[in-house]
Amino acid sequence: MAIEVIDDLATWRRALDASRSAGLSVGLVPTMGALHGGHMSLIRRAAAECDVAALTDYVNPLQFGPSEDLGAYPKNLLRDRELAAEAGAQLMLAPSPEQVWPDGEPSTSVRVSGLTDRLEGEARPGHFDGVTTIVCKLLSLSGPCRAYFGEKDYQQLAVVSRMVSDLSLPVQVVGCPTVREVDGLALSSRNAYLSPDERAVASRLYHSLLAGKRLIEEDAVTDPACVEAAIAEHLGAERRFSVDYAAVVDPADFKRPERIGSGEVRLLAAARLGKARLIDNMAATPAAAQQ
Ligand code: PAJ
Repeated sequence: MAIEVIDDLATWRRALDASRSAGLSVGLVPTMGALHGGHMSLIRRAAAECDVAALTDYVNPLQFGPSEDLGAYPKNLLRDRELAAEAGAQLMLAPSPEQVWPDGEPSTSVRVSGLTDRLEGEARPGHFDGVTTIVCKLLSLSGPCRAYFGEKDYQQLAVVSRMVSDLSLPVQVVGCPTVREVDGLALSSRNAYLSPDERAVASRLYHSLLAGKRLIEEDAVTDPACVEAAIAEHLGAERRFSVDYAAVVDPADFKRPERIGSGEVRLLAAARLGKARLIDNMAATPAAAQQ
């Protein structure tokens, strides 16, 4: 299917206004480009559920800290265009920062408190403010019926959902499952930073979360600290990993539950491996809550 690539915000707004005026539903997939199978699964879902599937392809400087990888972030617009079209997208917005913020750095910031206190919010100060500010702008600019986000970035999905709910934004947030390589490694644009040696051990992140899940579901371990320590130990056993955090949280508030027992929890971990910082997560349902 043909895809139209637009770099100018006014043209983009007009194109989506025209779709809505024609009675077509719009599904939006915000991305930072360097598209892979994870992004494509979101686009495919948008194309299956909406008349028009639109994606944004914009490396958002606001969500990178001063010592992070903004300069190195992989970019390949031509390939993105092909992959997006293959997955069923009809419209793609690929603007420059100057086109997004013609008046320079924005004076407005959208901030979700509470859910952003820990984990990625703690490890990357200001990161979520950058995410929610750009996502709020992209939603307001595009006016989609539905917006698609990956569970791969589980805290981001929760933070964006909370923003949409708090601000009554007229859009349905749809969370989509994590797409993985055959060895379990979650697809990520940042996997491109891994050397072949590092790539060979990278799926340990996934397997250490699985080990934590087994402790909860099969061994009925109820102490979150014990599960967190086991995940961190499993991950840290490969010396090339430097563990940032391993956490068990209540998905409602991202706080550590006192005891694992009555409902589903989320296991999340982040670690550095060479030049890459990898994150992953999975659900665990304690045996007592499975009946
Ligand atoms: P980016 O990292 O490009 O991811 C875009 C979307 O793809 C996010 O919703 C992310 O969760 C999803 N995604 C990434 N890897 C995935 C995988 N393996 N399986 C399923 N979904 C996956 O997340 C961002 O960009 C930015 O923060 C953004 C929301 C675009 C704001 O700038």
